[in-house]
Formats: sequence, structure tokens, C-alpha cells
Amino acid sequence: MKVLRGVDETRAFVAAAPRPHGLVPTMGALHDGHLALVRAARDACATVVASLFVNPTQFNDPADLAAYPRNADRDLALFAEVGVDAVFAPPEQAMYPPSSSTTVHVGGPALPLEGEARPGHFDGVATVVAKLLSFITPDAAYFGQKDGQQVAVVRRLVADLGLSVEVRVIPTVREPDGLALSSRNALLSPEQRRAAPALYAALTAGAERWCATHDVQHSVDAAAERLAAEPAFSDVDYVALVDAATMAPWDGRGTGMLAAAAHLGPVRLIDNVLVEG
Ligand code: PAF
Repeated sequence: MKVLRGVDETRAFVAAAPRPHGLVPTMGALHDGHLALVRAARDACATVVASLFVNPTQFNDPADLAAYPRNADRDLALFAEVGVDAVFAPPEQAMYPPSSSTTVHVGGPALPLEGEARPGHFDGVATVVAKLLSFITPDAAYFGQKDGQQVAVVRRLVADLGLSVEVRVIPTVREPDGLALSSRNALLSPEQRRAAPALYAALTAGAERWCATHDVQHSVDAAAERLAAEPAFSDVDYVALVDAATMAPWDGRGTGMLAAAAHLGPVRLIDNVLVEG
């Protein structure tokens, strides 16, 4: 497995590698959810490139960036084990040279939910993803459904800029008790970890209510009530049922995404489930 640090050497590597190319963008702190993305890429692509870059511009809170778990040696070993051909692990100056002055701003699906709770977050995501797609030019890029709004934002970015990459989305990987795998789970105390599955339980309760009533507000209420029953979730940023593609309030047609974000002490967790109209 090659470890690439510079943009030019990365362009040279991909120019010589057999197609199709799959890209798995990550910020490291790998778990089985990331490895599921790599395995899907490995199954479908002749060359798999992963990226490993804790992107500072997508952290709206400096304390969150400082606390973000980092373990590059472990991440590289896991990537090698699961069959990645090359890892693009640039220093910050390679992604954001001092002269760099361009930010990619996505409107539409980037504006509500996480867009409101974390101002600037999706500008950082869209900018770094646009750079990764430009440097690596993959045929397919792999993202997890866990970050469902990010999926909608990346799809919008790719469509609006006419980028020739297929966005492939892999289902959320969960612990046996339902907690979605997330790099942030490592920051939970044992007590918070015990309370954490209530987030998915709440979304499941909401989805069940949707199936029983086909009423958007009842579904949101059912999820919110279930979440409120777990006092460890001190602060709920949102519980919402939105159109999975546009992130606008769902009208009950096509695919809806029931999503929630809530705080367990200092750790902010997000999760979502899809429902059909
Ligand atoms: O999902 C993530 O880990 C990040 O948002 C991504 C897509 C790697 C961009 O930094």
C-alpha cells in the first residue's frame, strides 16, 4: 500500500493505476463503518484510494477539532489490511496552501439541520470533497448513510459542478445495541455509552409510527418523545423528517430521512433512518 502525501505524486499514482478507481474519503479514527466503505470499493474497483485527512474547515467548534480522535498508524494498518492500494494522507498545507482562497458553498440540502446547528460545516465538507475529487478523479466515491445529509450535499455538489464521479452510499453499520458506529463514540464515558442507543431507538420508534400512521408530525413526535425519555441526552439539536435528497420537509412521497442530532455530555451524536412513502 502506497502512502501519498503530495498532490502531484497522487495525480501521478492515479494516472498509472488501473481503472475503475474507487475513492473512500475519511478523517481517520477508522471503525467498521469505514471498512465497509473500503470493502464495497474493493469489490467494485480495480484501484482503491482512501484519503486520511482531518479537515479543519469542517469543524465549526475548535474544541471539537482538538478532541477529534487521531491515530494515523492504526488507520494505515487497517487500510492495508482491508486491501486499500493507496492512502492520500496530505499535510494541511497540501490541502490548504496559504494562498488558497476558494470555498465551495452548497445551498439547498446543506442549509437546514446540520447546516443550522453547525454553521460553515458543509462549506468545509464541500470544499475538501471537491478538492479530493479533483486530485484523485475517481470513477466512484463511497460515503456512509450515517451522514445522510452529507450524502445529499455531496450528490448536489457533484450534480451542480457536473463532476464525472458516481456517488455510492453504503448502509450505516451499527453496534448490536443499535448505536451507529462513529469515530466520536470513542469519546463517550461508560455511562454515556450505555445511554447512547436511545438515539437509534428513538428513530426506530419514529419510523414505526410512520409505517402505522403515514403522518409526518406523528412520526417526529414519536421519535422526539422516545429521545426525551433518556435524560442523558441533555440537549437535542433537532428531530426532523425530511426528503432524503433535498433535506426539505418531507411531503410523504419518495424517500424520507428521519434524522436526529443530540448531545451526550460533550459528545454530539447524529443518526438517521430512511422511510418510504
Ligand atoms: O465523512 C467524513 O469523514 C468527512 O466529512 C469527509 C467526507 C471525509 C470530508 O472530510
